[in-house]
Amino acid sequence: MSQTITKHKIQVINQGQEFLCPSEISLLIGMETINSHCINVGCRGGGCGVCKIRVVNGSFSSKKMSKAHITDKELQDGFVLACRIFPTSDLEIEVIHSPDPKQIIV
Ligand code: FES
Repeated sequence: MSQTITKHKIQVINQGQEFLCPSEISLLIGMETINSHCINVGCRGGGCGVCKIRVVNGSFSSKKMSKAHITDKELQDGFVLACRIFPTSDLEIEVIHSPDPKQIIV
């Protein structure tokens, strides 16, 4: 018996891009799966903060995010780490790139 996987449409509104991501994988891995580069990729585990984005619309579940990268105020304003969230609906997001991601060692 096959299981239907629901994929959600992720629109990157400040880059005019979109991709599909199932609820079972993080937004960052979903993006990498389709070979897109619209979000910066670092440690993939919540440790570096380079994948910070802002969710403008939609719902998601999330794993714990370090306050060193996402403060309580930022969380209220929709900022999250793409490697720590899992879409539960279609999402509209904005990417927030760090000033120089090449300087981050992974
Ligand atoms: S890739 Fe390092 S915190 Fe998301």
